[in-house]
Amino acid sequence: MTDKELIDTAIRYRENSYSPYSKFKVGAAVLTKSGKVYGGCNIENASYPVTNCAERTAIFKAVSEGEKDIEAIAIVADTPGPCAPCGACRQAIAEFKIPRTIMANLKGDTRVVSLQELLPFAFSDEDM
Ligand code: THU
Repeated sequence: MTDKELIDTAIRYRENSYSPYSKFKVGAAVLTKSGKVYGGCNIENASYPVTNCAERTAIFKAVSEGEKDIEAIAIVADTPGPCAPCGACRQAIAEFKIPRTIMANLKGDTRVVSLQELLPFAFSDEDM
């Protein structure tokens, strides 16, 4: 699976975004080392903090299927530049040591960063 295919999957899942409050649709897709793909979208709630971001939806879908070894995650929104993951999602990306994060937007802009670039000085199991 190419980065472009993973981004296209995230774009498809973005259409399922449940975002009646922000109206900001986000899609994500993860590629596992075994070659499986799990997509996700943001799911909002009238109690705003209960909202789940697209990235964490996709990661939690993979992990709940027993697929913890993830090699890449793509994130897409209709943003001016490639859509960056929020801090909480960076922490979830760090938890599963996802080595490549692919940020994208609907115009075709992309940026690929390593885990170290995405979240330097991350808190992890090694700190406990
Ligand atoms: N959102 C994501 O899905 N991922 C991010 O990394 C940033 C924010 C969602 C949460 C909320 O539904 C909407 O975007 C606006 O913050």
